[in-house]
Amino acid sequence: MREELIQCVRRAAVALLLLGGMAGAAACASSPEAPSNAAAALIPPGGLTFSRDIQPILSTRCVGCHKASHLTAGVDLSSYAGVMREVTPGSPSSVLIQVTQPDGVMYIALGADPSQKAAEIRSWIVDNHAAP
Ligand code: HEC
Repeated sequence: MREELIQCVRRAAVALLLLGGMAGAAACASSPEAPSNAAAALIPPGGLTFSRDIQPILSTRCVGCHKASHLTAGVDLSSYAGVMREVTPGSPSSVLIQVTQPDGVMYIALGADPSQKAAEIRSWIVDNHAAP
């Protein structure tokens, strides 16, 4: 278990080393408002829900390291209940928002089009009060 965690941390650190420069450049190139404005067009009128919009992101990008059988940092993102331990509905300072913003430690894990995914996670929590 400990070796797994060390490997996981090492992989994350390498990913940050390799891609941190790029992510930093992308974050600097656009104003802080840009991601959510760009995302606004894609957010469905009924609002975002966990099962339809957020779970697909987390299961593809995050659950590999954050599930019951691989509980990195004590975080389980494999279920709504687990995710809600990192979320305060309506609050922009939710842990899940902090780690997925462009300056957050898990931003790089979002993969392709990270600012769009980060904006969706933020909007789901802040605007849609983390609807299931
Ligand atoms: C390669 C493995 C890996 C992936 C993939 C991964 N994480 Fe993490 N995560 C970690 C590690 C390692 C830590 C501990 C980092 C630390 O403490 O500095 C962590 C910590 C966290 C924390 C706790 C941070 C805190 O300060 O309490 C959250 C929340 C989190 N990750 C969310 C996510 C989200 C959301 C994703 C998907 C976008 C994700 N993680 C993808 C390895 C991963």
